[in-house]
Amino acid sequence: MPALSQRAQEALYPSVREMFELAATEPTAISFAIGEPGFDTPHPIIDAAYAAASRGDTHYTPNRGAADLRKAWCRYRREHDGPDYDPNDEIIITAGGMEAIYLALIATLDIGDDILIPDPGYANYFGQVRMVHANVVPVPLHAGNGFRMRASEVEEAITPRTKALLLNSPSNPTGAIIDPDELAAIAEVAVKHDLWVISDEVYRAFVYDDDVRCLSIASMPEMKERTIVVDSFSKTFAMTGWRIGCAFGPKPIIDQMTIMQENVVSCVPGALQTGAAAALDNGSDILPTMKTAYRANRDMVVSAIADMPLVSCNIPDGAFYVLVDVSATGMDDHEFAVRLLHEGKVVVTPASGFGSRGRGFVRMSYVGTAQATAEGLRRMRTWLESL
Ligand SMILES: Cc1ncc(COP(=O)(O)O)c(C=O)c1O
Repeated sequence: MPALSQRAQEALYPSVREMFELAATEPTAISFAIGEPGFDTPHPIIDAAYAAASRGDTHYTPNRGAADLRKAWCRYRREHDGPDYDPNDEIIITAGGMEAIYLALIATLDIGDDILIPDPGYANYFGQVRMVHANVVPVPLHAGNGFRMRASEVEEAITPRTKALLLNSPSNPTGAIIDPDELAAIAEVAVKHDLWVISDEVYRAFVYDDDVRCLSIASMPEMKERTIVVDSFSKTFAMTGWRIGCAFGPKPIIDQMTIMQENVVSCVPGALQTGAAAALDNGSDILPTMKTAYRANRDMVVSAIADMPLVSCNIPDGAFYVLVDVSATGMDDHEFAVRLLHEGKVVVTPASGFGSRGRGFVRMSYVGTAQATAEGLRRMRTWLESL
């Protein structure tokens, strides 16, 4: 067999996927590993997609995405505190938020450029940056201030080759939301150093406390023209398997991303886009239902962890993740996760896969039923007490 490319050999496989496979060997384990809603897509959305496919919407669609969905998404965004985007040329529908991030990276970074990435941060950022032959420069986040990104540390991390900054608020894996004043200061840093900003906002709908505000950096002065906002239906409407995401941004970059979309996946399936537009046009009660359940789960997890020996955590502001500090157990995060799986029958994700600052933490995703969450926490406590 001929040799694989260097890029293929160096591809990164996120630790969350490894745990997923290992967890399959323990069928009775309760999982806090999975990063997706514990709800199924609501039926009106499925029915709209089915009706579209039955009507014959089974062909290629425009590279930029279906006009109805683009219009509906720009309207939804405007109604939810985002800047005003033109549905004709400031949005592209992509195969999930993942593809939007990938196209944004290719559109902004040349080979060898640097991009600032939160550490700990979503594992696929690291793999994608590697695939485009750019370099990750980590922006350290600290448990001491709830892992909220600080403008001063963004500025300190800038190198002569830094072209872009990636933000993720609310964050996977920390659940942190960037403080509005700090976000304004980060915007000033981006303008001062002429950076592109890729703002991954796929968890924007999941904010649990009335006194916490989650703003988009794109709404700040001079930012719309240098920001690519990544959004997705995956988490907001329990549609992870549909692979519908988008990027909002200035026309010139969205135009180029549209050309590259043709080169990568050509387009997103039309019937699925019709289902997604129905979620926005007709409203859906899935989001408030999920938020109520996750908020209760978050509170249950945080208070249970506070009562367990050897572990601790912050109260996460949003998304549906919490990072738990396991360093006092004397195990590294990987050993902790593997032993908890086999001995305690609970699945968590070692956070060193989210960057070097994740070392000593595990990520717990609290999207299960209340009953499963309570049982998983009971098992975890029993196991920790047995150590
Ligand atoms: C931070 C973050 N960004 C983007 C994505 C990608 O979401 P999707 O491609 O399903 O829209 C995920 C998925 O878990 C995520 O956690």
